[in-house]
Order: sequence, then C-alpha cells, then structure tokens
Amino acid sequence: MSRVKGSYLSRTSPGKMRSKAPSALVAAVAVLLIAGTSCQSSVISDFDFFYFVVQWPGSYCDLKKACCYPTLGKPASNFSIHGLWPNYDDGTYPQNCDPSDTFDYSQIQDLIPQMNKYWGSLSCPSSDGTDFWSHEWEKHGTCSGGLSQHEYFAKGLALIKSLNLLGSLQNAGVKPSSQATYDVSTIQKALGSAIGFTPGVECNTAANKNNQLYQVYICVDKDAETFIECPVYPNGKCKPSVHLPTF
Ligand SMILES: *[C@@H]1O[C@H](CO)[C@@H](O)[C@H](O)[C@H]1NC(C)=O
Repeated sequence: MSRVKGSYLSRTSPGKMRSKAPSALVAAVAVLLIAGTSCQSSVISDFDFFYFVVQWPGSYCDLKKACCYPTLGKPASNFSIHGLWPNYDDGTYPQNCDPSDTFDYSQIQDLIPQMNKYWGSLSCPSSDGTDFWSHEWEKHGTCSGGLSQHEYFAKGLALIKSLNLLGSLQNAGVKPSSQATYDVSTIQKALGSAIGFTPGVECNTAANKNNQLYQVYICVDKDAETFIECPVYPNGKCKPSVHLPTF
C-alpha cells in the first residue's frame, strides 16, 4: 500500500519545456530545476494540514502487548503527544521527506525537560525517548514545510500545553475508570469544546477486550499553531460506547 503522494519529479514534467523556448527561458528553467533538487525539504513539503495526535497512556498500557515506562519513571495520568503529522486533505500523507536530515538531540537540548513531560515513549524496552523522537522527526517532521527540528518539537509542545483535554472530559463527566463506559459522541463533544473543533478519535482493544479511547486527532493549520476544522477524519474504530481506562 503506497500512501505517499507523487514525488517532486513525478509532478514536474520536464516535458513541459518547449523546444522553441528562448534560450534565456531555458536557462532560467534549468536553474530552477537545479535549485529545486538541492532544496528538498522546501520542495517536498507540500501538504494540507497537520494531525496533532495525542494518546491516552492508560490505553497503551493495558494491551496484550506490554508497555514500558520511560527511564525517568511513570508519566502523569494525562494525554501525551504521539506526533505532529503533515497530512493531505484526501487522507494520505507524505513521509520521510529528507533522509539526510537525521534527528539531532543537541538541537532540542533545551526542550528535553518538556519533551520528557509531554512527549515520552511508553514502548518497550524502557527508553529515554530519543528513538521515538527520531522516528517522529524523520518520518513526519522532515515533511513539515521547512520547520527546523527545534521549531517542530517546540510547536508540538506549545500545542499540548494550550489544551486541557482531560479537564474538558472531566467537565463532561468523563473520568478515567476501570468500569465506566461513555458515549463516544460525549467524548468527542467534550474534546471539541477544548479545541474549538471536533477532533477525530481512535480506539483500540484492551487485553480484556474493552473498546477504549486511545488517540485524539486534532487538526492544525500549516502554521503548526492554529486549530482548524478537520478536512478528513481517520477511521477511528470506536464503538458507540467506549472506556477510558485508568493509568
Ligand atoms: C493535563 O495536561 C494539560 C496540558 O495538556 C494541563 O492543562 C492539565 O492541567 C493536566 N491535567 C492534570 C490532571 O495533570
């Protein structure tokens, strides 16, 4: 399954150059083509909007597959960041846009305390998060329209800090619980009141077979700051009534 949109080259047909073009124009086009290939990130970074995806840790840690707390210890019982993903309006997305731009810890040194708080990894084995952050940067961040690594992670951190999703759920009577179930429409409405727009919700299945809220897909404009109405929603696999497990 290929979800990657056509590359720069496939969308820019050299066949459009006419043989009768004045030589100055031919030269100008040649310069543009050369500039284009040497400046990959700004060329391949066409996308329509971001999914800012946050996850509920309780729904990652009660699966058949084990989770592992970060080396720094158990995170807060709160939503944390999965990623900030460039997406197209048709539901496809670009990925790995610049393999030469590898993750560089030193560029986000000053963000590490916040990264640990809001963007930790729960995958096994226990980790300090750098593998997770490398993956997010290299697969998604390199397609984010020319944001630097520091800008990319700082934007994600600013977004999660601006939203109290758990507080909005609590205001709607939705609290983490091992027993209770909630209408997914109630959850979506409550999350929407924090964001200003209805987010996508994704559910997964716990080891005990409960269908539970796992991730929230929040749509953000290409500035990586402004919440927008979602152009397209993921297929969230939520039942009408879902759990929000404790963590
Ligand atoms: C959860 O995180 C949000 C920021 O995303 C914050 O506003 C809220 O106070 C946190 N809630 C708890 C219970 O820690």
